[in-house]
Amino acid sequence: MSFPDKFSWGAVTSAYQIEGAWEADGKGPSVWDMFTRRRGHVWDGQTGQVACDHYNHYKGDVALMAQMGLNAYRFSVCWPRVMPSGTGAVNEAGLAFYDRLVDELLAAGVQPWVTLFHWDFPYQLFLRGGWLNPESPAWFAKYTAAVVDRLSDRVTHWVTLNEPQCFIGLGHASGEHAPGLKLDLPEVLLAGHHALLAHGRAVEVIRERAKKKPIVGWSPAGTIYYPATESSEDIAAARVATNSVWPDGVWNNRWWGDPVVFGNYPEEGLRVYGAAAPRATKADFKIIQQPIDFYGCNIFQGEAIKAGPGGAPTLAPLPPGHPRTLYLWSQTPEALYWGPKFLAETYKLPIVITECGMSNCDMVGHDGRVHDQVRIEFMISYLLQLRRALAEGIDVRGYFNWSLMDNFEWQEGYKHRFGLIHVDYATQRRTLKDSAHWFREVIVSNGAAL
Ligand code: NOJ
Repeated sequence: MSFPDKFSWGAVTSAYQIEGAWEADGKGPSVWDMFTRRRGHVWDGQTGQVACDHYNHYKGDVALMAQMGLNAYRFSVCWPRVMPSGTGAVNEAGLAFYDRLVDELLAAGVQPWVTLFHWDFPYQLFLRGGWLNPESPAWFAKYTAAVVDRLSDRVTHWVTLNEPQCFIGLGHASGEHAPGLKLDLPEVLLAGHHALLAHGRAVEVIRERAKKKPIVGWSPAGTIYYPATESSEDIAAARVATNSVWPDGVWNNRWWGDPVVFGNYPEEGLRVYGAAAPRATKADFKIIQQPIDFYGCNIFQGEAIKAGPGGAPTLAPLPPGHPRTLYLWSQTPEALYWGPKFLAETYKLPIVITECGMSNCDMVGHDGRVHDQVRIEFMISYLLQLRRALAEGIDVRGYFNWSLMDNFEWQEGYKHRFGLIHVDYATQRRTLKDSAHWFREVIVSNGAAL
């Protein structure tokens, strides 16, 4: 079976993780620039100051995308590259970089999908309270307008926020990510509320100003629970778990998805978070709930669930030796069937897998090639599950592999290699991995070669 016509076969990156050029051409600092300069935050003291130097290698990188047969590429715009102080003056040189990138992609037949925020928040705005400042949605709207005005004569596909669960949960609650805050729950949820408002404002701005009819979505990252067996009890328990708001943290789907799609926080979430929940007005939800065209899902793994006493969802441990990635994330391809299924059931929107992929410790072998057979096996197993979802009529529009190329994996530095393209950071030499060659066959056959 092949995939639907016009299925987006893509790969994905983010600005801080690949661009480098951290001080080039008038760019302002981001919270990640500051966070990585302080020792102890990132493995081995590494930073994204140079990363893949994509800022200077973008032409070659686009040529490799074309060679791989990708028809779509999702990348993010670095907010302080475009607005060095986060708001106010626009940096022409910064915008011009994305302008050139978009032209290069279109000339190569690769559709650009632009993510507006993938975590590199402007440091100057952090000093003014960051996401805790109620003005933050307005700042984001102004930045969005600058990007949309410049790119929307050619760009049609937009993603507002990448993984609010992460930049709020890891950045503002556990402190593992920039800006490294360890706030109490009311503040964490307030920052999250402003991020949701920023999403809504950005969608409004895109729809008002885009020169070409836009297709807009977002890319959250809630935990996907899948049934340990396909008994109706386990399926029901996994569905409940995927739709639940848990008291410990913000890793759920509904606290984030419901405001965006339904215009309210879920009852269960309000109960679980209690007095910590932000005071949200009807007017807020009117802003947050904008029509979106697809629900992006970043899914790397899931948790197996069985029905416990009374049908209650209970975690089902995986057997010893179950395949894992270098991150020790469990390989659970079922998540790419049940995730889209449960989320489409709840939100009734087309689904795009805006990220999925695996980390490994790939190396260039004696024959000059990168034999990442494990990644091929990972992708086959996940894509077969996605195909199962499609076969059942779930409207999945695309699959974006995280990542196009090896890059700076946040607090893990360069330890993890997620790319289809190997990057030698000392020389900036790129090598297509075996998985890239294999993925090309899949794309060319529109999935029939799986
Ligand atoms: C999702 C994030 O969007 C991306 O930035 C990160 O590198 C991958 N997960 C892998 O952890």
